[in-house]
Amino acid sequence: MKNIIIFGAPGSGKGTYSDEIVTRYGMGHISTGDVLRAEIKQESELGKIAQGYISNGQLIPDELMIDILAKTYDSLPTGKGVIFDGFPRTIAQAEALKKMLAERNHEMGVMIELIVDEETLMERLLRRAQIEGRADDNEETIKKRFAVYHNQTEPLAAWFEKEGIRHTFTWEGSKDQMLANIFAFLDTLK
Ligand code: AP5
Ligand code: MG
Repeated sequence: MKNIIIFGAPGSGKGTYSDEIVTRYGMGHISTGDVLRAEIKQESELGKIAQGYISNGQLIPDELMIDILAKTYDSLPTGKGVIFDGFPRTIAQAEALKKMLAERNHEMGVMIELIVDEETLMERLLRRAQIEGRADDNEETIKKRFAVYHNQTEPLAAWFEKEGIRHTFTWEGSKDQMLANIFAFLDTLK
């Protein structure tokens, strides 16, 4: 399987569909949010820096994030492809990802964009707040995350379009249907 970049707003299902894709195709998975939350839990230096940004719904600075991404990528087996979940989130990160992969003679593969209306996103994240208690899953911080997504990350969709690898999947009320559509597309790439 090619590399996959899974792209979408907070709560759009990046983590959920990544897990399903990993199960089906046996590829690696990097969630930069999960990496940062693990660092916070360990109270590492990186975790201390990340905590302030995450709890405020802001992005971690690009240089730091790009460095973490490369280290995580190099620690994974990449033979079956890797799914990038939550990275890139800025044009600088996208350029850095492209360069990092080219240096390793690897390709970006495909970008999967998840489009979900904001009301559904908010409902999902507030429901998850009751189950998982993520520090950034409260209404005030979720609104900031949406704003950061619209201002800093969403413009990247056009960057992927120019690269010719953007594939959009729109939520129409059924998780099974969404998964079937994504798998039908990915099966054509094997
Ligand atoms: P990150 O952890 O990536 O959070 P996010 O982008 O806000 O997205 P979420 O993880 O909240 O949602 P998701 O799209 O994975 O959806 P999920 O599958 O969980 O990043 C957190 C923070 O880390 C950032 O704000 C930033 O501070 C920092 N950070 C991370 N990467 C960075 C980077 N590259 N640069 C700078 N900073 C970075 O689904 C949501 C919920 O909905 C789940 O509970 C799920 O079970 C439920 N759900 C219900 N129905 C469905 C359905 N039909 N499909 C999918 N999920 C469903
Ligand atoms: Mg996630």
